[in-house]
Amino acid sequence: MVSWRWLTSFCRGGIFPKAFKKSSRCPSLFWGCCYHRTQGSFLNPEIRAFLEENTEVTSHGHLTPEIRLRLLTPCCRFWKEKTDLWPFSDPFWAIYWPGGQALSRYLLDNPAIVRRKTVLDIGSGCGATAIAAVMSGASQVLASDIDPIAGMAMVLNCELNNLNPFPITTKNIIDTEVDNWDLIILGDMFYDQQLADSLHHWLRKCSQTHGTHVLIGDPGRPQFLDHSIQSKLHKVAEYPLLESTRQENNGLTATVVWHYQP
Ligand SMILES: C[S@@+](CC[C@H](N)C(=O)[O-])C[C@H]1O[C@@H](n2cnc3c(N)ncnc32)[C@H](O)[C@@H]1O
Repeated sequence: MVSWRWLTSFCRGGIFPKAFKKSSRCPSLFWGCCYHRTQGSFLNPEIRAFLEENTEVTSHGHLTPEIRLRLLTPCCRFWKEKTDLWPFSDPFWAIYWPGGQALSRYLLDNPAIVRRKTVLDIGSGCGATAIAAVMSGASQVLASDIDPIAGMAMVLNCELNNLNPFPITTKNIIDTEVDNWDLIILGDMFYDQQLADSLHHWLRKCSQTHGTHVLIGDPGRPQFLDHSIQSKLHKVAEYPLLESTRQENNGLTATVVWHYQP
């Protein structure tokens, strides 16, 4: 039986990129691919109910216990249930990935990095790192994730942490002209060669055009370790992963924050 348990151990294989090529099975529930600023009360009530019913609120098992999140845990029905019954695209937003954990921990411990800064979080997933940026005093945060359900999960996670939802975009902004952000953050986004190449090219442009500061969180995924971006990175922090995250991530033991300097 295929269940969502495999999601947490994907990264040594090629499942993840394939999963992203799948489209949502429930397009009528989409937010649409545009720039959003929404309050939780505007969420489609059916989707809200589905997300609340099929995730668990948790603040343990990851590196930032001060952030509460709705995640897929062994207590949830779809941890074991066949994925065929899941109505949306694969729920990568329902996992707090090691790369995002490192970045969030780093921002919470070093708020001066983001205080009064404008911050763009690429591939936000559950939104934890964007939440950490808000908690650390960022003046403006934009979360970006191409999965509209991730956007909705982020709104719920903002509510859990008593924050007003930040703007969220579901448009793919990689390879587009972007505004002049002070800081771009990316957690666990180097899992696919093609995406890694696009990201590197785009980050170089953002950095060279605007002088944008770029921080990358990654636990040592093969596509990241083997990428040419490695020669432009400077390690700023490393954290041991908690036991539960180690088990879910095929033996990865630590997660790192890198400063990209093209
Ligand atoms: C491995 S998850 C990481 C989530 C989060 N940053 C974390 O560390 O917990 C990757 C996320 O990137 C999103 N994603 C993939 N391609 C993207 C793109 N081109 N633009 C924005 N988000 C993207 C996926 O929908 C997914 O939520």
